[in-house]
Amino acid sequence: MSDNKQKRRLTEMVRNCGCAAKLAPGILADVLSGLDVPRNDNVIVGIENSDDAGAYRLDDGRILLQTLDFFPANNDDPYTFGQIAAANALSDIYAMGGTPVTALNIVCFPGSADISILREILRGGADKVRESGAVVMGGHTVEDPEPKYGLSVTGITDAEHLLANRNAAEGDVLILTKPIGTGIIVSALKGGIAGEGSAKEAVGSMTSLNKAACEAMGKFRGVHGCTDVTGFSLGGHAIEMAKASSLTIEIESGSVPVIEGAAELAEEGIVPQGTYRNKDFFGPDSRFAADFNEDLIFDPQTSGGLLISVSEEDADGLMRELKAELSTRCGIIGRVTAKSDKYLIVK
Ligand code: CO
Ligand code: CO
Repeated sequence: MSDNKQKRRLTEMVRNCGCAAKLAPGILADVLSGLDVPRNDNVIVGIENSDDAGAYRLDDGRILLQTLDFFPANNDDPYTFGQIAAANALSDIYAMGGTPVTALNIVCFPGSADISILREILRGGADKVRESGAVVMGGHTVEDPEPKYGLSVTGITDAEHLLANRNAAEGDVLILTKPIGTGIIVSALKGGIAGEGSAKEAVGSMTSLNKAACEAMGKFRGVHGCTDVTGFSLGGHAIEMAKASSLTIEIESGSVPVIEGAAELAEEGIVPQGTYRNKDFFGPDSRFAADFNEDLIFDPQTSGGLLISVSEEDADGLMRELKAELSTRCGIIGRVTAKSDKYLIVK
């Protein structure tokens, strides 16, 4: 093994980190709009919903959930990167109110790189899958100059627990279960300028499963809609939820939990490319009433929290449950109102 192989940092091998590497939302919408997909009565949530996972009704009434997510390395420690990528992929099942059952590894890895790095990535992923209660059944590996990793995940739920992003209700309260700012902190980490506290909070948040938050949601009938906050940012995913539900979402900027140091870095312009793609696409659907930094609201998140739309009656009970169970900072960040001139209003 040459010294060269050992010295190259994982994040130096990729152009975009984590969910910031997503194709621009506008391009994706264009491509999908021209696609003729076969219809099937068992498909409850399909490709047309921009939802977190597909939902398919099985013969016994249970609902099969399927999703996949993978992205370029966003941490120099391969084990940590594996954990983050797996937690992020599993999250889409939790966002649908489901339980992950099986997972398959998706791997891109340079043929010339040290194979022990790949082993560590897979070990990180396997540990998160084990924590979720699911099992790894196999996978597929492709040679690629940029290391990428993720999972295809299958989960199960039932009609009573299925949560789509289209069912937010007027008068609901919005809860976010993790702080935002991971895109900014990952950019700062790549550039070697992230503070220790910021890095620790971001990595702790990205490696946390949304499992406990999902289990807490399952206890309250007043939970109407849910999505997880990933590459399209808090603003983008909130807009997708508002659009799907034909309502408006109001976010109280001062109530949004933000990772230590992220606001300051955003002020200095340390933001990933994906922020500008999100702003371009989602900006016209939003109105900012406060001088809150828009770069934070449109910061692409990796393995972000659940954005939960819950009735006012159940909001405090759910918050108590979340505060007791979660290691990440969470909070009530806004509410759902009748459709106004914009889908998203940030106060
Ligand atoms: Co999602
Ligand atoms: Co996803």
